[in-house]
Amino acid sequence: MPKVLLCPPNYFDVVDQKNPYMACPDLAEGSRESAVDRVKARSQWESLCSVLQQNGCEIELIDAVEGLEDMVFAANQVFAGEKIGYGKFVVPSRMVYPSRQREVPFYTDWFRSRNYQVIELDYGADYLEGHGDLLWHPDGARIYGGYGFRSTRGGVERFATEMSKMGIPVVPLQLVDPYCYHLDTCLCPLNDEAALIFPGAFSTEALASLHKFWKRIHLLTTEEAHRFMGNGIVVNGRYITPYVTPQLEASLHQEGLTPVIVDTSEFEKSGGSCFCMKTFLP
Ligand code: ARG
Repeated sequence: MPKVLLCPPNYFDVVDQKNPYMACPDLAEGSRESAVDRVKARSQWESLCSVLQQNGCEIELIDAVEGLEDMVFAANQVFAGEKIGYGKFVVPSRMVYPSRQREVPFYTDWFRSRNYQVIELDYGADYLEGHGDLLWHPDGARIYGGYGFRSTRGGVERFATEMSKMGIPVVPLQLVDPYCYHLDTCLCPLNDEAALIFPGAFSTEALASLHKFWKRIHLLTTEEAHRFMGNGIVVNGRYITPYVTPQLEASLHQEGLTPVIVDTSEFEKSGGSCFCMKTFLP
Protein backbone atom coordinates (compact mmCIF):
# COMPACT_ATOMS: atom_id res chain seq x y z
CA MET A 1 0.00 0.00 0.00
CA PRO A 2 1.60 3.34 -1.05
CA LYS A 3 2.03 5.78 1.81
CA VAL A 4 1.66 9.46 1.19
CA LEU A 5 2.30 12.50 3.38
CA LEU A 6 -0.01 15.52 3.34
CA CYS A 7 -0.50 18.65 5.43
CA PRO A 8 -3.99 20.02 6.13
CA PRO A 9 -4.61 23.54 4.74
CA ASN A 10 -5.54 25.06 8.13
CA TYR A 11 -3.50 28.22 7.55
CA PHE A 12 -3.31 28.12 3.77
CA ASP A 13 -3.35 31.59 2.21
CA VAL A 14 -1.93 33.73 -0.57
CA VAL A 15 -0.10 36.59 1.11
CA ASP A 16 2.68 37.45 -1.32
CA GLN A 17 3.76 36.63 -4.86
CA LYS A 18 6.15 33.71 -5.09
CA ASN A 19 5.22 32.71 -8.61
CA PRO A 20 3.16 34.18 -11.51
CA TYR A 21 -0.05 32.41 -10.42
CA MET A 22 -0.02 34.37 -7.18
CA ALA A 23 -0.45 37.70 -8.94
CA CYS A 24 -3.86 38.10 -7.35
CA PRO A 25 -5.56 41.49 -8.02
CA ASP A 26 -6.67 41.61 -4.38
CA LEU A 27 -3.04 41.49 -3.31
CA ALA A 28 -2.16 44.47 -5.45
CA GLU A 29 -4.99 46.50 -3.96
CA GLY A 30 -3.88 45.69 -0.47
CA SER A 31 -7.27 44.19 0.40
CA ARG A 32 -6.98 40.48 0.04
CA GLU A 33 -10.23 39.33 1.61
CA SER A 34 -11.19 37.06 -1.24
CA ALA A 35 -7.74 35.72 -2.05
CA VAL A 36 -8.42 32.24 -0.71
CA ASP A 37 -11.70 30.62 0.24
CA ARG A 38 -10.55 28.52 3.21
CA VAL A 39 -13.75 26.48 3.41
CA LYS A 40 -13.51 25.59 -0.25
CA ALA A 41 -9.79 24.88 0.08
CA ARG A 42 -10.50 22.50 2.96
CA SER A 43 -13.10 20.57 1.01
CA GLN A 44 -10.87 20.35 -2.07
CA TRP A 45 -8.02 19.07 0.08
CA GLU A 46 -10.37 16.50 1.68
CA SER A 47 -11.48 15.32 -1.77
CA LEU A 48 -7.87 14.81 -2.74
CA CYS A 49 -7.34 12.74 0.42
CA SER A 50 -10.43 10.62 -0.29
CA VAL A 51 -9.41 9.96 -3.88
CA LEU A 52 -5.94 8.92 -2.71
CA GLN A 53 -7.49 6.59 -0.12
CA GLN A 54 -9.97 5.15 -2.62
CA ASN A 55 -6.95 4.28 -4.73
CA GLY A 56 -5.19 2.35 -2.03
CA CYS A 57 -3.02 5.05 -0.45
CA GLU A 58 -2.44 5.21 3.26
CA ILE A 59 -2.39 8.85 4.33
CA GLU A 60 0.01 10.24 6.90
CA LEU A 61 -0.35 13.81 8.13
CA ILE A 62 1.97 16.48 9.42
CA ASP A 63 0.45 19.22 11.61
CA ALA A 64 -0.10 22.57 9.94
CA VAL A 65 1.70 25.48 11.60
CA GLU A 66 0.16 28.93 11.96
CA GLY A 67 1.90 31.55 9.82
CA LEU A 68 3.22 29.00 7.32
CA GLU A 69 0.70 29.65 4.58
CA ASP A 70 2.31 27.34 2.00
CA MET A 71 2.95 24.37 4.28
CA VAL A 72 0.08 22.50 2.59
CA PHE A 73 2.40 22.02 -0.42
CA ALA A 74 4.01 18.93 1.08
CA ALA A 75 6.14 18.17 -1.98
CA ASN A 76 8.75 20.83 -1.39
CA GLN A 77 10.35 20.74 2.05
CA VAL A 78 12.43 17.59 1.65
CA PHE A 79 13.43 15.15 -1.05
CA ALA A 80 12.59 11.62 0.12
CA GLY A 81 14.15 8.43 -1.13
CA GLU A 82 15.29 4.92 -0.41
CA LYS A 83 18.30 3.08 -1.70
CA ILE A 84 19.22 -0.54 -1.07
CA GLY A 85 22.22 -0.61 1.24
CA TYR A 86 21.47 2.90 2.54
CA GLY A 87 17.87 2.73 3.67
CA LYS A 88 15.34 5.53 3.74
CA PHE A 89 16.62 9.08 3.63
CA VAL A 90 15.54 12.68 3.19
CA VAL A 91 17.46 15.67 1.92
CA PRO A 92 16.03 18.85 3.51
CA SER A 93 15.45 21.65 1.01
CA ARG A 94 16.77 25.17 0.97
CA MET A 95 13.69 27.09 -0.11
CA VAL A 96 14.01 30.48 -1.80
CA TYR A 97 11.34 32.31 0.23
CA PRO A 98 11.89 32.86 3.98
CA SER A 99 8.34 31.84 4.96
CA ARG A 100 8.89 28.57 3.15
CA GLN A 101 12.35 28.09 4.71
CA ARG A 102 10.57 27.98 8.06
CA GLU A 103 8.53 24.95 6.94
CA VAL A 104 11.60 22.80 6.39
CA PRO A 105 12.53 22.00 10.04
CA PHE A 106 8.97 20.80 10.76
CA TYR A 107 9.12 18.33 7.89
CA THR A 108 12.71 17.30 8.66
CA ASP A 109 11.75 16.53 12.28
CA TRP A 110 8.73 14.57 11.09
CA PHE A 111 10.98 12.33 8.99
CA ARG A 112 13.78 12.15 11.55
CA SER A 113 11.40 10.90 14.25
CA ARG A 114 10.34 8.16 11.83
CA ASN A 115 13.93 6.99 11.44
CA TYR A 116 14.73 8.45 8.06
CA GLN A 117 18.39 9.29 7.68
CA VAL A 118 18.63 13.08 7.29
CA ILE A 119 21.24 14.16 4.73
CA GLU A 120 21.97 17.85 5.23
CA LEU A 121 23.60 19.57 2.27
CA ASP A 122 25.85 22.57 2.52
CA TYR A 123 23.97 24.87 0.14
CA GLY A 124 26.15 27.98 0.27
CA ALA A 125 24.24 30.50 -1.85
CA ASP A 126 22.24 27.80 -3.67
CA TYR A 127 18.64 26.63 -3.45
CA LEU A 128 16.89 23.31 -3.87
CA GLU A 129 13.13 22.80 -3.49
CA GLY A 130 12.53 19.09 -2.88
CA HIS A 131 10.08 17.21 -5.07
CA GLY A 132 9.02 20.47 -6.70
CA ASP A 133 12.21 20.23 -8.74
CA LEU A 134 13.49 16.70 -8.10
CA LEU A 135 11.64 13.75 -9.61
CA TRP A 136 12.56 10.07 -9.47
CA HIS A 137 12.47 7.97 -12.59
CA PRO A 138 9.76 5.47 -11.50
CA ASP A 139 12.24 2.55 -11.32
CA GLY A 140 14.65 4.60 -9.18
CA ALA A 141 17.37 4.54 -11.85
CA ARG A 142 17.94 8.29 -11.75
CA ILE A 143 16.59 11.60 -10.54
CA TYR A 144 15.63 14.55 -12.74
CA GLY A 145 16.61 17.93 -11.32
CA GLY A 146 14.93 21.10 -12.58
CA TYR A 147 16.56 24.48 -12.00
CA GLY A 148 16.30 28.09 -13.10
CA PHE A 149 13.47 29.66 -11.10
CA ARG A 150 13.54 28.17 -7.61
CA SER A 151 16.26 25.53 -7.36
CA THR A 152 19.59 26.75 -8.73
CA ARG A 153 21.90 24.83 -11.02
CA GLY A 154 24.42 24.81 -8.15
CA GLY A 155 21.78 23.38 -5.79
CA VAL A 156 21.06 20.54 -8.20
CA GLU A 157 24.82 19.95 -8.58
CA ARG A 158 25.39 19.82 -4.83
CA PHE A 159 22.53 17.34 -4.59
CA ALA A 160 23.97 15.31 -7.48
CA THR A 161 27.34 15.05 -5.71
CA GLU A 162 25.60 13.64 -2.64
CA MET A 163 23.46 11.19 -4.65
CA SER A 164 26.53 9.96 -6.56
CA LYS A 165 27.80 8.51 -3.27
CA MET A 166 24.81 6.16 -3.42
CA GLY A 167 25.30 5.57 -7.14
CA ILE A 168 22.20 7.52 -8.16
CA PRO A 169 22.70 9.75 -11.23
CA VAL A 170 20.98 13.15 -11.36
CA VAL A 171 19.99 14.72 -14.69
CA PRO A 172 20.00 18.55 -14.54
CA LEU A 173 17.24 20.20 -16.59
CA GLN A 174 17.04 23.92 -17.17
CA LEU A 175 13.56 25.44 -16.89
CA VAL A 176 12.68 28.51 -18.95
CA ASP A 177 8.94 29.23 -18.51
CA PRO A 178 8.08 31.22 -15.34
CA TYR A 179 4.63 29.55 -15.25
CA CYS A 180 6.48 26.25 -14.99
CA TYR A 181 8.77 27.40 -12.19
CA HIS A 182 8.97 23.90 -10.69
CA LEU A 183 9.80 20.72 -12.62
CA ASP A 184 6.64 19.03 -11.32
CA THR A 185 4.55 21.38 -13.48
CA CYS A 186 6.09 20.30 -16.79
CA LEU A 187 7.41 16.73 -16.39
CA CYS A 188 5.24 13.93 -15.10
CA PRO A 189 6.57 10.36 -15.22
CA LEU A 190 3.68 7.97 -16.01
CA ASN A 191 5.65 4.70 -15.90
CA ASP A 192 9.22 3.56 -16.60
CA GLU A 193 8.87 4.28 -20.31
CA ALA A 194 6.48 7.19 -20.66
CA ALA A 195 6.16 10.75 -19.40
CA LEU A 196 4.02 13.82 -19.92
CA ILE A 197 6.19 16.74 -20.94
CA PHE A 198 5.50 20.37 -21.75
CA PRO A 199 8.36 21.14 -24.15
CA GLY A 200 8.01 24.92 -23.86
CA ALA A 201 9.21 24.77 -20.26
CA PHE A 202 12.66 23.37 -21.05
CA SER A 203 15.86 24.69 -22.59
CA THR A 204 16.85 23.03 -25.88
CA GLU A 205 19.53 21.06 -24.11
CA ALA A 206 17.19 19.89 -21.36
CA LEU A 207 14.62 18.75 -23.91
CA ALA A 208 17.25 16.79 -25.83
CA SER A 209 18.36 15.11 -22.64
CA LEU A 210 14.78 14.14 -21.70
CA HIS A 211 14.37 12.40 -25.06
CA LYS A 212 17.22 10.06 -24.12
CA PHE A 213 15.45 8.76 -21.04
CA TRP A 214 11.85 8.24 -22.16
CA LYS A 215 10.67 5.84 -24.85
CA ARG A 216 7.35 7.61 -25.17
CA ILE A 217 6.86 11.30 -24.60
CA HIS A 218 3.32 12.65 -24.52
CA LEU A 219 3.33 16.36 -25.16
CA LEU A 220 1.29 18.80 -23.14
CA THR A 221 0.13 22.09 -24.67
CA THR A 222 0.84 25.44 -23.03
CA GLU A 223 -2.77 25.63 -21.90
CA GLU A 224 -2.65 22.14 -20.37
CA ALA A 225 0.63 22.79 -18.58
CA HIS A 226 -0.41 26.20 -17.25
CA ARG A 227 -3.59 24.64 -15.89
CA PHE A 228 -1.54 22.06 -13.97
CA MET A 229 -2.49 19.06 -16.08
CA GLY A 230 1.14 17.95 -15.84
CA ASN A 231 0.97 18.19 -12.04
CA GLY A 232 -1.00 15.00 -11.62
CA ILE A 233 -0.56 12.02 -9.34
CA VAL A 234 -0.13 8.54 -10.81
CA VAL A 235 -1.50 5.85 -8.53
CA ASN A 236 -3.35 2.58 -8.97
CA GLY A 237 -3.85 3.01 -12.73
CA ARG A 238 -5.32 6.48 -12.19
CA TYR A 239 -4.08 9.95 -13.05
CA ILE A 240 -5.35 12.42 -10.46
CA THR A 241 -5.54 15.78 -12.18
CA PRO A 242 -7.41 19.10 -11.79
CA TYR A 243 -8.62 19.09 -15.41
CA VAL A 244 -8.48 16.89 -18.48
CA THR A 245 -8.60 17.52 -22.24
CA PRO A 246 -9.42 14.95 -24.95
CA GLN A 247 -5.75 15.00 -25.96
CA LEU A 248 -4.51 14.34 -22.43
CA GLU A 249 -7.13 11.65 -21.96
CA ALA A 250 -5.88 9.92 -25.12
CA SER A 251 -2.26 10.03 -23.89
CA LEU A 252 -3.26 8.61 -20.53
CA HIS A 253 -5.36 5.91 -22.19
CA GLN A 254 -2.33 4.81 -24.23
CA GLU A 255 -0.48 4.30 -20.97
CA GLY A 256 -3.34 2.42 -19.34
CA LEU A 257 -4.28 5.30 -17.04
CA THR A 258 -7.73 6.67 -16.29
CA PRO A 259 -8.05 10.33 -15.28
CA VAL A 260 -9.73 11.21 -11.99
CA ILE A 261 -10.54 14.89 -11.61
CA VAL A 262 -10.05 16.65 -8.30
CA ASP A 263 -10.85 20.36 -8.16
CA THR A 264 -7.85 22.27 -6.79
CA SER A 265 -8.86 25.80 -7.85
CA GLU A 266 -8.04 27.37 -4.47
CA PHE A 267 -4.52 25.92 -4.48
CA GLU A 268 -3.94 26.93 -8.11
CA LYS A 269 -4.19 30.56 -6.89
CA SER A 270 -0.96 29.77 -5.06
CA GLY A 271 0.66 28.05 -8.05
CA GLY A 272 0.12 24.45 -7.03
CA SER A 273 -2.15 21.49 -7.67
CA CYS A 274 -2.42 17.75 -6.91
CA PHE A 275 1.21 16.70 -7.19
CA CYS A 276 2.50 19.59 -5.04
CA MET A 277 0.22 18.69 -2.15
CA LYS A 278 1.83 15.40 -1.21
CA THR A 279 5.03 13.41 -0.94
CA PHE A 280 5.09 9.67 -1.51
CA LEU A 281 6.87 7.99 1.36
CA PRO A 282 9.53 5.49 0.37
N1 ARG B 1 2.92 28.92 -3.38
C1 ARG B 1 3.86 27.84 -3.40
C2 ARG B 1 5.22 28.37 -3.79
O1 ARG B 1 5.30 29.22 -4.64
C3 ARG B 1 3.41 26.76 -4.34
C4 ARG B 1 4.28 25.57 -4.35
C5 ARG B 1 3.86 24.53 -5.34
N2 ARG B 1 4.62 23.37 -5.22
C6 ARG B 1 5.12 22.62 -6.22
N3 ARG B 1 5.71 21.52 -5.92
N4 ARG B 1 5.05 23.01 -7.47
O2 ARG B 1 6.24 27.97 -3.27
